[in-house]
Amino acid sequence: FSLKQYNTFNIDVKAKEFIQFDEPKEIRNWIEEGEFNNPFLILGGGSNLLFTRDYDGSVLYPAFKGKKIVNENDDYAFVYFAAGEDWDQCVEWAVEHNLWGVENLSLIPGHAGAAPVQNIGAYGVELSDLVETVEGVYLETGKKFLKKKDSCSYGYRYSIFKGPLRNKVIVTGVTLRLNKKPATKLGYGSLKVEVENMGAITLQNIRKAVINIRTSKLPDPEEKGNGGSFFKNPVISGNFYKNLQDKWPEIPGYFLNESNRVKVPAGWLIDKAGWKGYKSGRAGVHDKQALVLVNNGGASGLEIADLAMKIKEDIIQKFEILLETEVNIL
Ligand code: EPU
Repeated sequence: FSLKQYNTFNIDVKAKEFIQFDEPKEIRNWIEEGEFNNPFLILGGGSNLLFTRDYDGSVLYPAFKGKKIVNENDDYAFVYFAAGEDWDQCVEWAVEHNLWGVENLSLIPGHAGAAPVQNIGAYGVELSDLVETVEGVYLETGKKFLKKKDSCSYGYRYSIFKGPLRNKVIVTGVTLRLNKKPATKLGYGSLKVEVENMGAITLQNIRKAVINIRTSKLPDPEEKGNGGSFFKNPVISGNFYKNLQDKWPEIPGYFLNESNRVKVPAGWLIDKAGWKGYKSGRAGVHDKQALVLVNNGGASGLEIADLAMKIKEDIIQKFEILLETEVNIL
């Protein structure tokens, strides 16, 4: 079964088997048939995944659909998105329903089910700011669960579903608490200016502004295969950051409030090291955002992983910083 249409890097690999679940109850049948003991991979939109070889097991593809308001009060609407929904269509739906909260997360590729797993984030908002509950199925027992946000261990691009519960559960949907009244977060970079230039600060304009910023920097996976940010932004000590500032006074950094630690944009490091726009065979570094590795057409996963390794080594050499990949390499 070819996975080329199922990963945004457009890598042409095959899986031994591809199983689509249209209803959560179908997972239970699969478990009862004892299939859980074979190698498997849970696939969402495939937007954060780099295949370097064929997958010798079953790819499980949750395709559950549904977007609905499940509860509301004067201030909030509690909105459920099923795992198989396209994330950006969920954002569009929320904006159409005049619900505030997810608009800064416009145009992030992938499915709604991956959003609470990966704790997607952009322009000053992380999904965990909005999560009420995450529902899913335990693969060992077939039992359903409903986890409140506090028991999801949320962190930067991290959750319990990427940690201890990795491959132990399938997330079937997420419920978010969205604001009925205007609640803006425009503190990140040029977002506020971009929105103001459109006239009024409306939900629709914020969504448009985010889409404009993203499309100006990030390649459209339909046109050029990529997995968004390839590396995470590293967090270093305040002292080490000061040393770096001596050498590179213009280095950006965001002090994290709880500690003397600083998050440094990996894109800046990679750019400064001279990799922006670099091409290595069919793999490359995006020319408008150095944090994004691209498939210039027909690249293998290994070519891209190879380039990533070279960049990683170079960043250690030049800055003594170890980059961690954000994309899962398989
Ligand atoms: N920068 C450069 N050169 C580059 C890229 C970035 O100098 O080639 C500098 C920028 O000038 C800016 C800073 O680095 O000062 C940050 O850049 P940007 O605002 O583009 O954001 P980022 O840190 O590179 C993160 C997320 C993105 C998210 C944006 C916007 C991570 C790993 N990435 O990128 O998320 O869209 O912020 O909030 O945290 C993703 O996770 O796949 C993703 C795209």
